[in-house]
Amino acid sequence: MKKLNVYKIKPGMILGQDVINAEGRRLFFKNLELSDKEIRTLKMWGIPEVIILSASQKKNQTKPKGESEGRKKEREILDKWFQKNDRQNPVIKTVYDICLDRFENNQFEKVASFKKKKNKGKILSDGKTKDVIDIPRLLKDDIKLPALPTIFFEINEAIKNPKCSGKDIVDIVSKDTSLSATLLKIVNSAHYGLSKKVESLHYAAMALGTQQVSSLAFGITVIKYFKGISEKRVNMQSFWQHSVACAITAKTFATHVKGVNSERVFIGGLLHDIGRLILLNSYPDACNSLVNKAQILGLFHYQLEEKYFGMTHGKFGSLLAKNWNFSDKLSELIHHHHTQFKKVPPKETGLVYMSNWLVMALGIGASGENGLPRLSMNAWNALNISESILEPVVKQIDRQIVEVVKFFYE
Ligand SMILES: [Fe+2]
Ligand SMILES: [Fe+2]
Repeated sequence: MKKLNVYKIKPGMILGQDVINAEGRRLFFKNLELSDKEIRTLKMWGIPEVIILSASQKKNQTKPKGESEGRKKEREILDKWFQKNDRQNPVIKTVYDICLDRFENNQFEKVASFKKKKNKGKILSDGKTKDVIDIPRLLKDDIKLPALPTIFFEINEAIKNPKCSGKDIVDIVSKDTSLSATLLKIVNSAHYGLSKKVESLHYAAMALGTQQVSSLAFGITVIKYFKGISEKRVNMQSFWQHSVACAITAKTFATHVKGVNSERVFIGGLLHDIGRLILLNSYPDACNSLVNKAQILGLFHYQLEEKYFGMTHGKFGSLLAKNWNFSDKLSELIHHHHTQFKKVPPKETGLVYMSNWLVMALGIGASGENGLPRLSMNAWNALNISESILEPVVKQIDRQIVEVVKFFYE
C-alpha cells in the first residue's frame, strides 16, 4: 500500500483504505477500483491524498469473472447511445458516467429497450402520407378532442393571476374531490419533503404556496384529461414517466439557477411533448410512417416532422398552448425543447431543453426516440452551472420519480 497525492491517481488504481472527508463522511470504501468519475469526486471534495494498493496487492484482488466483459459491453451500448455527442466534452462525459452507473444498477431502461430493438433488426415498411397534414385546421376544427374541463381553465387563470390567493385556489380545487385527493398525496410525497403530513388543501396551500399548489393541480388535471383520450395508441405510463421526470428535473435545476420561475419550468417540463401526444393520437398512421422513415434514414423523429406535419411537435405543442390560453413564456418553453440554439437562449428555455435532454440521456420513460440527440451547448450555457451539479440532480430525480409518477398517474 502507498499514500498517493490525488492528482497522481490514475483510473484503474484500487483504494487500500476507506476515504473519509473532513466532515467525517465516508466517500468511498476500500477495494474500489477508481475511475475518472471517482477521481473527480476526490478532487471536488478537496481530499489531498489516499491510500492505494500496490501493483502486487492489486494482482491478488479476486475479481468476479466476466465483470470487465460486462462493463465493456455496457460501454459499447452507451457509446452508440451517445454517438451524436462529443464524449470529450465535460458535461457529456459526466452524464455518460452517470448512465454507466445506472446501467449497472439496472436503472437504464432506454438502453435496455434499445438493445432489444437492435437484436430484432426489423425495419418496418414505410407507409405513405399523401399530403402534409394541415396543422392550422387541426387546431381549429379537425382535431377530435372533447372540450377541456372548466377546472382546467380556472386553474390556468389562477396560475397567471399574481393576485390569486391560497383561498381562491383551494376553492377551485376542492370542487373536484379526486383532484383534491391526488394533490394531497403528491404534496405528502418525498418530492415536497414536508416535515409534517398535510391533510387539507388549505394547509397544502399554506405549506407550499399558492403558485406551487396551482401548478400541481394544473398538472394533475392535464394528465387525467389526456390519459382518457390517448390510452389506446400511446403507452401513456411511459409517456408521462418521461414528462413527469422532465418536470421534476426542471424544478430541481431551477434551485441552482438564479432568476427562473420554478413553477413555470415545472409545467413546461410536464407539457413539453404534448404536441407529440396529440399528433400520435390524431394521426397514428402518419406517425407510424414517420417513425419507420426515421429509422431507415437514421434521423430523429422531430427532424422529419416538418415534412410530415409542416412543423415540429414542439411548435405544434406551443400552438396548442396558445390555443388553451397559456402564457407566451410557457408556450416558448414547449416550442424549443429540441432546438439546436445558435446563441444562448433565455434561461428557462435552456433549462427545459436541458431537462428533456438529460431525461432522454438517462432513459427515463419514453421520449419516442431511439437515440440521444446532440446536446446544444448553448442551452447548457444558459444555465450557467457546473457539471458537478448533474450527479446530485440525477439522485434527486431518482428519489422522486417513482412516487410522483405513481400519484400523478393512478
Ligand atoms: Fe419532444
Ligand atoms: Fe421529450
